[in-house]
Amino acid sequence: MKNLLVSGGAGFIGVNFIRYLLEESNFEGRVINVDKLTYAGNPESLSDIEANYSDRYVFVKADIVDKDRLSVIFDKYEIDGICHFAAESHVDRSIASPDEFIRTNIIGTYNLLELSRQRGGRIRLFHHISTDEVFGSLDKEEYFTEETSYKPNSPYSASKASSDHLVRSYYKTYDLPVTISNCSNNYGPFQFPEKLIPLMILNAIQDRALPVYGDGLNVRDWLYVRDHCTAIWTIMKKGRIGETYNIGGKSEMENTKVVEMICDYLDVIIGKRPNREKRRSLISFVTDRPGHDRRYAIDSNKITSQLGWMPLESFETGLLKTIKWYLANEQWVNSVQSGEYLNWIKQHYG
Ligand code: NAD
Ligand code: TYD
Repeated sequence: MKNLLVSGGAGFIGVNFIRYLLEESNFEGRVINVDKLTYAGNPESLSDIEANYSDRYVFVKADIVDKDRLSVIFDKYEIDGICHFAAESHVDRSIASPDEFIRTNIIGTYNLLELSRQRGGRIRLFHHISTDEVFGSLDKEEYFTEETSYKPNSPYSASKASSDHLVRSYYKTYDLPVTISNCSNNYGPFQFPEKLIPLMILNAIQDRALPVYGDGLNVRDWLYVRDHCTAIWTIMKKGRIGETYNIGGKSEMENTKVVEMICDYLDVIIGKRPNREKRRSLISFVTDRPGHDRRYAIDSNKITSQLGWMPLESFETGLLKTIKWYLANEQWVNSVQSGEYLNWIKQHYG
């Protein structure tokens, strides 16, 4: 692939993926980052990439729901590959207001597929990024495999399930060369502090309450974001066309345990709270999320045995790196928390 369209490349995983692709992987082509810049997109996170890779990196502010605009971008940049991250991604927002999830996640994916189909053999690969949440909730001892049936429980996961089905149908019906990955919960640098781990890290640093939903015993299978990026690139290079791959970190953890670990690490790194209590005293159990999935856990045997991918980080090493990143990147944190990054976007992109 010479001209890879990365949709949603200004979001959390997209930023990490573009960094990995240009700085670490053996990809030699050009990245065209197409992002609408919703509240979750922050191109400031890639300003050094824009400066250092001006010949191999282009940013285009565009909405994937706008098919005409997308069509122009496909032709102008001679797009021959797609890695599709763009989505509304936060479950709580999908419960409060599902509209954008239906538009971006379903219609936006359809537009990218349809424009790819119209360009016949020019598109060498369409890789679709999805989530394990499409499979619904697990009881103890069970794991999601690539054969698990879809049972999404939130508007977010239902919209992602729908997009997965569309991608599959374009392979089966039109022979579009697609691959799909369904990944567990990511954490790491540049994650918007509405998701559990960055929210708890920043609240704990800033001595604010740590709101844990329900009884705090819901389980997620955490994966450090760079490990997700290496998995995506492995699939894009070596995956079989038409196949889906589950990606997970073998790091199942109850939410309360995650929050306690963050508290304990911070007590050691920056000392206890101003009132000398341990940070765990900030934990506050709040009303549960409606339809809250109890447990997610991934069986990633297929990608490991067939493509040789393995995560590098354990939950402990990844979490420590993440906490240190949020402590070291005060300017990024202040810009995001104050909304200053939105002014920056207005100045640069109107
Ligand atoms: P994010 O919310 O941080 O970023 C999403 C990006 O998409 C933002 O930059 C946003 O501006 C952009 N975007 C939204 N609507 C758009 C539109 N209509 N047109 C163009 N751009 C648009 O999300 P993330 O956590 O980086 O997730 C990226 C992808 O990975 C999503 O598809 C998500 O479903 C999937 N995923 C996420 C996780 C996770 O734990 N974060 C796990 C598995 C899969
Ligand atoms: P989240 O980061 O929103 O990811 P997802 O819902 O996609 O798994 O939430 C991770 C888990 O943490 C989930 O079980 C909900 C819970 N949670 C809280 O307990 N408190 C919070 O403030 C948030 C944002 C999440």
